Amino acid sequence: MGIPFAAVTPCAKQKTLARLGEVRDGFLLDLVPLVLTSPINHCADRDFHDRVFGAPAEFILSLAMGPALGADQGFKKQSDQAGGIMICNEKDIPAPSAIPTIRSPMRDEFFPAKTTAPVAAIAGFGMNADLVDKLHPKKVPPTPAQVESELSPRWRNGPNSVINFLMNHDPSTSELRELDRQFHLHPFTHHSDMHKSGTQLIKSGDGCFLIDQDDRRLLDGLAGLWCVNVGYNCAAIVEAVHRQMRQLPYYPSFFNTTTEPPVRVAEFLAKKSPARLNRTIFSNSGSEANESALKIIRSYHHTRGQSGKCKILSRSFSYHGVTLAASSMTGLPICYEPFDLPLPGFIHVPGPHPYAVQSPLDPEAYGKWCLEETAKTIQREGANTIAAMFVEPIQGAGGVIPPPPGYLAELRDLLRKNNILFVADEVITAFGRLGHWFASNLWNLDPDIITLAKGITSGYLPLGATMVSDEISETIFSAGYFAHGYTYSAHPSSAAAALANLETIESLGLVERVRDDTGPYFQQKLHEFAAHPAVSEVRGYGLIGALEVIPRSGRAGLASEPTIGVRASGLIREEGSIVRGIRTLIAMAPPLIITREEIDHLFSCVKRGLDRLWD
Ligand SMILES: Cc1ncc(COP(=O)(O)O)c(C=O)c1O
Repeated sequence: MGIPFAAVTPCAKQKTLARLGEVRDGFLLDLVPLVLTSPINHCADRDFHDRVFGAPAEFILSLAMGPALGADQGFKKQSDQAGGIMICNEKDIPAPSAIPTIRSPMRDEFFPAKTTAPVAAIAGFGMNADLVDKLHPKKVPPTPAQVESELSPRWRNGPNSVINFLMNHDPSTSELRELDRQFHLHPFTHHSDMHKSGTQLIKSGDGCFLIDQDDRRLLDGLAGLWCVNVGYNCAAIVEAVHRQMRQLPYYPSFFNTTTEPPVRVAEFLAKKSPARLNRTIFSNSGSEANESALKIIRSYHHTRGQSGKCKILSRSFSYHGVTLAASSMTGLPICYEPFDLPLPGFIHVPGPHPYAVQSPLDPEAYGKWCLEETAKTIQREGANTIAAMFVEPIQGAGGVIPPPPGYLAELRDLLRKNNILFVADEVITAFGRLGHWFASNLWNLDPDIITLAKGITSGYLPLGATMVSDEISETIFSAGYFAHGYTYSAHPSSAAAALANLETIESLGLVERVRDDTGPYFQQKLHEFAAHPAVSEVRGYGLIGALEVIPRSGRAGLASEPTIGVRASGLIREEGSIVRGIRTLIAMAPPLIITREEIDHLFSCVKRGLDRLWD
């Protein structure tokens, strides 16, 4: 059958078209004739249109063109971004360089004169007349089942299938994307890129799976943002929140008052956490949990007559959130440089990530070097000026960096020797991700403070928590009035979500399941990628993992593609799973309810995506 179409689509909708066919060098290949037919009666060459496309054009148009490029109404509404379409004979295929100036035959009719967007040109040639005849010998529009049965298997089956896209695409997506473009400022987003490609819409979730705007079912390999531990659609949480909302949606915990759910959550946390940590102050996010920790630390030293002890240590490649202070601790330049941070008094020491800095040392030796550097920094700054160090037991958003053997214990000892408080930022690592309630239990960290968020409610409602040692809470008590807290600290509905979530994790035995079954299986499957030619390092623990990816040209080629991980994650998403692309790596942290079969599915998507990375 050959290649039925060449298409050049330098318009905002290129991504939509790309999803329907394989794009190479701006040309859309291997596309079934169904998709790119002409707009009804708006073909440059009407005879050509009727001869080649015949009846399916109408059928397909109503299915394909509306959702893909905006229905008639959508065209009008979105004329500044939709572009146009041109269908022509082979001899008339325009040179790509001429595309932006092509005037579509439909343009005058559908597009206001002020439209300046480039026009998409789609040139049909080599149309498969056999297929057309077969589909509609009587020029009667075929049924969806007939059409589907004639498609090549690549397009017929599964979430990527054209038919799936055509039949399920919701036209309101175009409208929402347009509203999103006009009114929504997104976190952690390159807005102009997103506006070009179209905002991704997630419509619903169930278990480990999400449904997107095209009704594609995607396995969520990142559990939202490393947080949906019990998966989507956990009835126990939904019902608990519903009950709480009906009974008492909100009341503050200021001024000698409390409500039941946060007390129960605080008790639950105290039972599961290391022995010295018994009291919790609540907030709304991981960033706020760290902010609370920072203020508690300052108050603690102040009360003990050491007000000058207020510098904070953290590590390169760490992530602690986005408030001014949390960004100052975060060891990722992209998070602090554009904001003229870090604030004075926030000091970064090297994090144990030899791969990223191309160190010749193995992780253990590099970890020792990091400790030596940390000790030198403490000496240089003066231990009596340093209040605390914040440490993620596994650095997550910085690239999934597990601690080298012995590193965390030595770091803790170094800090203790210098009277510097040790804060374990367990926003990602707590609540079962590593097969333990807390990484602090797993690695016997004995921190002075633990900060929490994410998996505490599985993301169902916002909640942050800061757990402090008895020594710290008693010092705070001794200081009198504690003027810190948020309006929504200990929000009863969020706490109800947390309690139901924690009880669900416990009753399903998810922590043990990750420890004994799915965690080791996930790591086994992850580490099999060490043999994949596009993978140059594998890291992980429990249900968190990362693959460092490289282009065909090897690690040296990363200089010209420093965000290859983001490209890889895009390909893997096309294959049916969401993973996170970070610089040169992909990161995964699926819901804790994931089964072995779903882990297989996740990694089969990863494999197909990585195979295509080198195509
Ligand atoms: C370790 C860690 N700390 C803090 C935060 C910040 O949490 P939030 O985004 O809820 O403010 C995150 C978020 O990813 C995190 O991974």
